[in-house]
Amino acid sequence: MKKITLLLMLATVQAAFAAPSLSAKETAAAMELAKSNGCLSCHALDEKIVGPAYSKVAAKYSDDKDAAASLAQSIRNGSQGKWGRIPMPSHGTMSQDDINLLARWVLTIK
Ligand code: HEC
Repeated sequence: MKKITLLLMLATVQAAFAAPSLSAKETAAAMELAKSNGCLSCHALDEKIVGPAYSKVAAKYSDDKDAAASLAQSIRNGSQGKWGRIPMPSHGTMSQDDINLLARWVLTIK
């Protein structure tokens, strides 16, 4: 019985590491970036506004190990046809670091 509990705990810890994760500081920074760059005028964490809810985006790509890179590309260049007919404009003036952080952040939202 004890062994099983231990194994379950190990599995949980491993799953936590496998899932994309951010430090509290990175999460706070990403939230600020999302506010200051207007992301939150089109997106909310858990409901559709103009663009898809971030929780839906995270769920859609949960099995995709290249998701952070492809979302970063969508944010930078804009995106069309993946979620509906409304396109997302490009954010080419943002730094690649900021875009990468936002992409990783979106993937952590449940
Ligand atoms: C003018 C409205 C608007 C703004 C501003 C906006 N988005 Fe979007 N976003 C959308 C729409 C619409 C879609 C769906 C596009 C599609 O169907 O391909 C989308 C899709 C996405 C996706 C999913 C892309 C994919 O490949 O599946 C991510 C991630 C995302 N947005 C993040 C962001 C971030 C981060 C910002 C701020 C830097 C931002 N969006 C700003 C409207 C917007």
